[in-house]
Amino acid sequence: MEDAVTAERLTRKFGDFTAVDNLNLNVKAGEICGFLGPNGAGKSTVIRMLCAILEPTSGSGQVLGYDLKRDPEKIKQNIGYMSQKFSLYHDLTVAENLDFFAGAYGLASHIRKQRIEEMLALADLAGQQFRMISELSVGFKQRLALGCSLLSSPSLVFLDEPTSGVSPTARREFFNIIHSLAARGTTVIVSTHFMDEAERCDRIAFMSRGRLLAMDTPDHLKTGVIKGCLLELEVPNPMEQIDQLTKLAGVMECSIHGSMLHVLLQDVKAIPALEAAAGGKAQVITPTLEDVFLALAKNMESW
Ligand SMILES: Nc1ncnc2c1ncn2[C@@H]1O[C@H](COP(=O)(O)OP(=O)(O)O)[C@@H](O)[C@H]1O
Ligand SMILES: [Mg+2]
Repeated sequence: MEDAVTAERLTRKFGDFTAVDNLNLNVKAGEICGFLGPNGAGKSTVIRMLCAILEPTSGSGQVLGYDLKRDPEKIKQNIGYMSQKFSLYHDLTVAENLDFFAGAYGLASHIRKQRIEEMLALADLAGQQFRMISELSVGFKQRLALGCSLLSSPSLVFLDEPTSGVSPTARREFFNIIHSLAARGTTVIVSTHFMDEAERCDRIAFMSRGRLLAMDTPDHLKTGVIKGCLLELEVPNPMEQIDQLTKLAGVMECSIHGSMLHVLLQDVKAIPALEAAAGGKAQVITPTLEDVFLALAKNMESW
């Protein structure tokens, strides 16, 4: 399938500080691509460059076939963007906000009413159109801001941490909407620092300190990044035993997860010796995305 976004060595500096460092990226048309990484990783800076509202310091990129440097206006006209600090008009109603943004996007009057109704349905706001924004919960506002960014029917939408500050239920609902958008062929690029949201993306771009550490499907990341065998081990005193177990032959890493230890072994052959030393039973587990991210971030430190 054709790429909706490509970037080659995309870099952004602020003074001496490199916020985005030589990023190579491709996002396929129709996929949900998650940008995952801690605060300050550079997610928003990449998104702003790809939306053509922030100039790269160096490198190049194409968005929907348009070049970032040559055709920034074309890119802005053809994408949807929900910024991290999206702005709605609090003294207007839901419908008035949609109408305002429809005007700002230059939507022709004959399709305006229909698009607004479609967005009310998509954002699960039908029946709420006469409420003032100031009366709405954060979850509602976020869905409305999403609706506003989609009024012009863009084939690609950038959502920058759309679910920060809302309940887990509202976050799940928001991702259901993202999936329904993708099912209709919209390419979605969404940044998050929530692992459960990243799990619901087709591919994840892991970022840390301006660099892209990995980009793959959640399953491939879990099976491909961590070399070795990850075990969960129930032991009487995890805190006291962790040092001793870390020193055992074949143990690459040991970390505490509640009352359990997670132990990364070079090989399954080392399990009996580990169980004997620990005085507990070990169980092979699939790494979580959190395990993957920790492993990637740790590798990065040794670069
Ligand atoms: N306009 C700016 N001026 C200076 N530094 C900036 C600016 N925008 C972002 N940064 C810095 O770049 C880094 C990446 O920021 P950002 O892209 O917002 O990260 P994220 O969205 O992953 O939290 C941060 O250290 C941030 O302080
Ligand atoms: Mg950000």
